Amino acid sequence: MATPAAIKKILVAEDGKKFYVRNIAEDFHTQFGFIGRDKLAKAKGGDAVKTNTGKELFVYEPSFIDSYGRIKRAPQIIPRKDVAAIVAETGIGKDSVIVDAGTGSGALALFLGNIAKKVVTYEIRDDFAKVAEENIRQLGMRNITLKNKSVYDGIDERDVDVVTLDLPEPWKAVEHAAKALKTGGFIVSYSPTTPQVSDFIAAAAKNKSLMLIKTIEIIEREWEFSDRVVRPLSQQIGHSGFLTFVRKISK
Ligand SMILES: C[S@@+](CC[C@H](N)C(=O)[O-])C[C@H]1O[C@@H](n2cnc3c(N)ncnc32)[C@H](O)[C@@H]1O
Repeated sequence: MATPAAIKKILVAEDGKKFYVRNIAEDFHTQFGFIGRDKLAKAKGGDAVKTNTGKELFVYEPSFIDSYGRIKRAPQIIPRKDVAAIVAETGIGKDSVIVDAGTGSGALALFLGNIAKKVVTYEIRDDFAKVAEENIRQLGMRNITLKNKSVYDGIDERDVDVVTLDLPEPWKAVEHAAKALKTGGFIVSYSPTTPQVSDFIAAAAKNKSLMLIKTIEIIEREWEFSDRVVRPLSQQIGHSGFLTFVRKISK
């Protein structure tokens, strides 16, 4: 199956309904009528364009988060609330070099690639690696390298700032991560169950260069605001995973 082109423009209706334009060389059809390709090609962020039926649509250029929201998903992706905690606790920034495993759909790698200098991401499965490669290409992220191999067999990189582990047996990657990290760097392990956390912490405790910082769970509670109905939504994101932070304190 052919993979879709990158999103070129976003059109939004008054009620918030969004339309994602991938090909500006063709007329674009919506439930409100179509917009001719000439009009589409000229439209810039901030403009309003009218369909042939007179419906006004507002134009904006896609940002990272718009394209990210349309990535193809293979295995379960990490929720944004947990990505935010990884960044906030480790201080990942424009000079950071990161190793990420497993890649899965590439959600975490993409987020980190959007703010860090370089991300190398390891994925053992060929089919997931293909999905992630496509997502990386769609978002035009040139600072992400995907390695289609097991992180349990070793990490090639050195002087790394952060190693993120989102895979079933993170304890098997502890020694490789410790070797890859610079002093002061972090391992962040993301696991849905407590036995995984315990085994990861036990493995980290055996390496005297590593210091356990903490294990946390991030709870996000969304509220609805509709006239006088002001309350937490009855359906919420339930449990996602525990984040364990370990720091390399010596060589
Ligand atoms: C839950 S998914 C990761 C999701 C990813 N963090 C995201 O946000 O899209 C776990 C991934 O780890 C991969 N995996 C499992 N064992 C691995 C290993 N030894 N080395 C590399 N990847 C592995 C799985 O194939 C799967 O794609």
